[in-house]
Amino acid sequence: MSAATRKLLVDVHTHVYLPRYASLLRSRSAAPRILSRPTADGAGTEERLVILDNEPSGGRPVGPQYWDRDEKIKFMDKHGIDVSIVSTANPWLDFLPAAEAPSLAEALNADLDAYCATAPALSPALSRLYAFGLLPLVPAVPVPALLAAVAHIASLPRLRGVIMGTRGRGAGLDDPALEPVWAALARAGLVVFLHPHYGVPSSEWGDRENGHVLPLALGFPFETTIATTRLILAGVLDRHPSLRLLLAHAGGALPQLSARLASCVAHDPAVAQRLAHDARWYLGQLYFDAVAYGREELAFVAECVGRADSYEKGADRRTQSAQRTLGSSRLLFGTDHPFFPPLAETDKWQSVTENLEAIDGVEGWSDAEREGVRGGNAARLFGLV
Ligand code: URA
Ligand code: ZN
Repeated sequence: MSAATRKLLVDVHTHVYLPRYASLLRSRSAAPRILSRPTADGAGTEERLVILDNEPSGGRPVGPQYWDRDEKIKFMDKHGIDVSIVSTANPWLDFLPAAEAPSLAEALNADLDAYCATAPALSPALSRLYAFGLLPLVPAVPVPALLAAVAHIASLPRLRGVIMGTRGRGAGLDDPALEPVWAALARAGLVVFLHPHYGVPSSEWGDRENGHVLPLALGFPFETTIATTRLILAGVLDRHPSLRLLLAHAGGALPQLSARLASCVAHDPAVAQRLAHDARWYLGQLYFDAVAYGREELAFVAECVGRADSYEKGADRRTQSAQRTLGSSRLLFGTDHPFFPPLAETDKWQSVTENLEAIDGVEGWSDAEREGVRGGNAARLFGLV
């Protein structure tokens, strides 16, 4: 079967720290940084990644999986992943001064395009690697520098979107200064991958040693939930209906809280009158990675997304199966590689197999719907076919 006819498995949530970025992290003495320390047996040294606030136990082990492209391809081959849309991992350029961020963004975006372009291809028309570029989203960066970065990314053939955190230029993503940036991203057809980093203040996590569990399992998704809600409430999706936003970790808690959000908006007329739609409607405008690790969770997100437009006044009622198709068409497989590596020598990574099994296991999805989530939806969204 040729690559063009085979059903593709596409990973839309897979990270890299390019060598240029890893060098920057090694040069730093405060987080985010890569530090070197003696191994526990004293026989050598090991590198550790320290990127989160108050990170426990000296951060996390870090190695070639994060920067070596051959390791990415080996990981893809091991799990049958045909195409990856790679993104720089958090915290991107957030910590840089405005004088440095634009030139580093430009260099890293060119590096990313080369990282993809020089990898083995599946066919003359289909690479194995595409990428999300980086914007120099830091406090006080001039908006024209952001627009120049959007134009540069749009000119690089393997870059199909941008990854961004939730802080924008320091005032969040509902900052009115970002209006021209949303307009430029929508016009360029670049997919915006919204990804958390800061989570919830560490004071919320108590004194018990819970490792990375609370910041990653709860802090990350709540951060995405808040940032997306602020975008909705600021009317960004009303003003830029063609903007394509992909939410990390299946949209965090947004699907679960969307009816409560709609109710709170409806009871707050000053907010309600700003919005063109019921708050639940906006879920149908978004894309969600399928990094949820469970079939019930995927089914629930698809159901919320598929019925999103039924809350419009006078909306036609779709059949349940039409809702399911619509909802699943907004979900896209991802792995979060190289985070969550297996703790013991195993053939496949649990963080990958759980997400694939979840897609396989959703009750009531047709083969076509599963294939869409595995890769067909990504192929359409990122213009791969
Ligand atoms: N931990 C991170 O810091 N980033 C991810 O994307 C996943 C886990
Ligand atoms: Zn991630």
